[in-house]
Amino acid sequence: MTNPMLAAAAHAIASARHVVAMTGAGLSAESGIPTFRGDDGLWTKFGEPRMDGYQNFLKDPKGWWTREVTHTQDPYVLELRSALEQAQPNPAHHALVGLERLDVLKATVSQNVDGLEERAGLTRLIEIHGNRSKFRCLGCGLRTPRGTFVPPRELPPPCAQCGGIVKYDSVMFGEPIPPDRMAAAQTEIDRADCILAIGTSGTVRPASGLAWIAHAAGATIIEINPNETRMTPIASLSVRAKAVDALPELLGVLSNVVRG
Ligand code: OAD
Repeated sequence: MTNPMLAAAAHAIASARHVVAMTGAGLSAESGIPTFRGDDGLWTKFGEPRMDGYQNFLKDPKGWWTREVTHTQDPYVLELRSALEQAQPNPAHHALVGLERLDVLKATVSQNVDGLEERAGLTRLIEIHGNRSKFRCLGCGLRTPRGTFVPPRELPPPCAQCGGIVKYDSVMFGEPIPPDRMAAAQTEIDRADCILAIGTSGTVRPASGLAWIAHAAGATIIEINPNETRMTPIASLSVRAKAVDALPELLGVLSNVVRG
């Protein structure tokens, strides 16, 4: 193993009882999806969006859906969407699946809306910011796959179960994290004695705050990120590498440890 920090991370993970991954946009960088912050980030390019996206949606869901079906959303939405439509899981996603199958990784709390972790095969997955390939009803919470969506004549599309307002499952700016997802994430964080923070800048709450909660409760924080982040000060180990390089290597070492 070439990176001594990665060797130390493998050792810490192998000694832990309940490892939880917290993933962010850097995990999907090699799938061609831009990150939000940093040199090539969407917010760097287009400016950070207003924080009241959800409140605006609620004021006029029909207007929002009309912009959606006429492809006249904000430019950053169109750029992100085009990347999402072409993206495939990369070796970092597959390595996470390998770690889950070894039972080394007990859960993954993802901030990504790209659905690539689910498509790669992760099952103990909590998509705290939702999943762009699903719809969610604001009335009853029913989630349905978007599939090949044909817009109904009546907008916003009504929920098939309760007739409520449907939006994408992805969490908008200003929207609370759906309580089922927040509770599931909190449960995993409470159990964790090791957090593997992968490809996240650690800037967006409440997701990033979960790492601080775990740290305060005594969990070891391991960061995999080519750059320093807001999580670096609480990380016992910072592996300065791309997820796509570090995770397959970590899986290789831990497979040998687990299989003896
Ligand atoms: P950011 O764009 O804030 O941070 C991405 C992180 O990935 C940075 O720390 C980079 O250094 C790191 N990175 C870049 N390339 C990498 C690579 N190849 N391998 C590993 N790491 C790499 O993204 P998030 O932290 O995920 O919210 O952002 C959190 C939330 O902010 C997002 O979920 C989104 C956004 O507003 C919603 O969509 C609700």
